[in-house]
Amino acid sequence: MGPHDPILGVMEAFKRDTNSKKMNLGVGAYRDDNGKPYVLPSVRKAEAQIAGKNMDKEYLPIAGLAEFCKASAELALGENNKALKSNRYVTTQTISGTGVLRAGASFLQRFFKFSRDVYLPKPSWGNHTPIFRDAGMQLNGYRCYNPKTCGFDFTGALEDISEIPEMQSVILLHACAHNPTRVDLHPEQWKEVASLVKQRELFAFFDIAYESFASGDGNKDAWAVRHFIDQGINVPLCQSYTKNMGLYGECVGAFTMVCKDADEAKRVESQLKILIHPMYSNPSLNGARIAAMILNSPDLRSHWLQEVKGMADRIIGMRTQLVSNLKKEGSSHNWQHITDQIGVFCFIGLKPEQVEWLTKGFSIYMTKDGHISIAGVTSGNIGYL
Ligand SMILES: Cc1ncc(COP(=O)(O)O)c(C=O)c1O
Repeated sequence: MGPHDPILGVMEAFKRDTNSKKMNLGVGAYRDDNGKPYVLPSVRKAEAQIAGKNMDKEYLPIAGLAEFCKASAELALGENNKALKSNRYVTTQTISGTGVLRAGASFLQRFFKFSRDVYLPKPSWGNHTPIFRDAGMQLNGYRCYNPKTCGFDFTGALEDISEIPEMQSVILLHACAHNPTRVDLHPEQWKEVASLVKQRELFAFFDIAYESFASGDGNKDAWAVRHFIDQGINVPLCQSYTKNMGLYGECVGAFTMVCKDADEAKRVESQLKILIHPMYSNPSLNGARIAAMILNSPDLRSHWLQEVKGMADRIIGMRTQLVSNLKKEGSSHNWQHITDQIGVFCFIGLKPEQVEWLTKGFSIYMTKDGHISIAGVTSGNIGYL
């Protein structure tokens, strides 16, 4: 029997609790202001249009739905990106953000000619570690979080990145809403990191799981990726539509590799197909059709962008209100990190014993490290929190 997932223990205890005011701050998916799962109206509309077309259910090609792949690359890189215009990129549809990362990690393991070393941010998202480890990469880390400020450890990050062996290592970067700390770099800081990565000839591997959902503005959330490419750094990029389209169970993601030229892109594509075919044969159809329909029809796309902004704004609003309520209740603690951090989750900076006090005394549930989901906070329960 393997070890239990700590979050499941928290959820079990939440279910058993009979307190009518109990709060679940461990919920992984977005919730609306009534605490209910939310299917975006643009997704419902796309589904209705797809149903009306009476399409078949044949296999997709190994690399996925072409119109989805093209639109995904444009979404992340920006429509006028020079790498796209000169066709020096390849995008394959894969299975959610996790599947994209696994395919990307396996690609590195097979083809990266210098080493098997990958440097993950510390702390790292719980799944990055086993994804890269199971793909056969060697795990290393670089500092990115300062527990004293609950903010980004820029000095520590630069120090550690400067020590990563030149020309030999992969560095994993979260484009926005770093998981788990939710602390992001400012553009000026990204510029410094990009020039260090370029100078040391590291291989920058981007994970972007929250485009448009982190800040409500896709251009802002994808800024770092575009900046790296503008600097001549050819990045691989893992995209997920799980959160920004709420397509959790549809498992939609895309892997893009920016290449030296169109010929290299063709060769990378052929090797990606060889790698993917024995993993899952071909990706799933339905979610990619939904995402493609939204991205490629101007009306649906603009509805979607408004909806995802609405979701991001609800989360940002809850963060602001929480901090102002804490002040009103007389707390003199500096809670600024709650509004500085971005995305659905928040590293609130509580110690395990403080978390236990909240859970035992007030039926407020979260993981012991004080990692909370703002999605569980609504206008109805924020006062209690
Ligand atoms: C940074 C990051 N990458 C990837 C993923 C996985 O995405 P998906 O849920 O689409 O598999 C997550 C999910 O939490 C994430 O936070």
